[in-house]
Amino acid sequence: MESEIRNEIVQSIKRLPTLPIIFEKILDTIDDPRSSAGELQETIKNDQSITAKVLNMANSAYYGYTKQVSDLTRAVVILGFDMVKNIALSVSVFNLFPEGNEEGGFDREQFWLHSIATGYLGKIIAEECRFYEPDKAFISCLLHDIGKVVLDCCFEKKYIDTVKIKNIKNISLREAEEQVFGCSHTDVGFWLGEKWNFPDELLESIKNHHDPTISAKRHSQLTYLTYLANIICQEEEIGFGGTLLPVTFLPETFDVLNLNNKKIRKIREEIQAMKEKLEAMVIAMK
Ligand SMILES: [Fe+2]
Ligand SMILES: [Fe+2]
Repeated sequence: MESEIRNEIVQSIKRLPTLPIIFEKILDTIDDPRSSAGELQETIKNDQSITAKVLNMANSAYYGYTKQVSDLTRAVVILGFDMVKNIALSVSVFNLFPEGNEEGGFDREQFWLHSIATGYLGKIIAEECRFYEPDKAFISCLLHDIGKVVLDCCFEKKYIDTVKIKNIKNISLREAEEQVFGCSHTDVGFWLGEKWNFPDELLESIKNHHDPTISAKRHSQLTYLTYLANIICQEEEIGFGGTLLPVTFLPETFDVLNLNNKKIRKIREEIQAMKEKLEAMVIAMK
């Protein structure tokens, strides 16, 4: 029975769209110093849906401009290229998974807020510990829970039951997923990442973000970073990823990421200072 459901999940993932070109392009540019911001802006310009969301953000109440911002170049000046890139990354993936119509389903808006805030936390942590590429950290943290959306999108009724079981039994969403599907969002995210040809370190951080101790050593920094960003996001209560239960913190995380309590406090302050901006981003991306 269990293997039947797993099989069904694997088949559903095969039917999902391929990785959006814009996402692939951004992923490629991280490792390629020759790629220019201009090129990327040109690609974004050709994508109407992303351009519209970027303009939404530039026109949001958060920035408070009275005059309508209607061209991308101006929006890039207002938002900064980094934010435009992050909106493009987020929208290109989020748009692939339309929300269902069932009552009592998974709260997608709060979930995306959790994902984007974890993404920014990953970036802040990477900048703080100075040995990790911030854009890679953003992507890993943005997508850490993507398996939840796959389950919610492909097995909507079953996922509503999963959320109910989680609430009734007061267990984590991951445990409830295991009970219903025989696997969890970490496996599903990994399978989707395989389909999308993600690099190994990204596959590993998605798969092990709840337990970085099982990560192969060479990729463990990104996995620990994603694990930590997820915990801080949950504790700082920005958005909702599906679980509120306290998690045991692995003390070696400080060593692996070269962090200390003082730096963690700074990271928490930085993300809290961004909260309103992140909320505006999610609204602009709807
Ligand atoms: Fe997770
Ligand atoms: Fe999460």
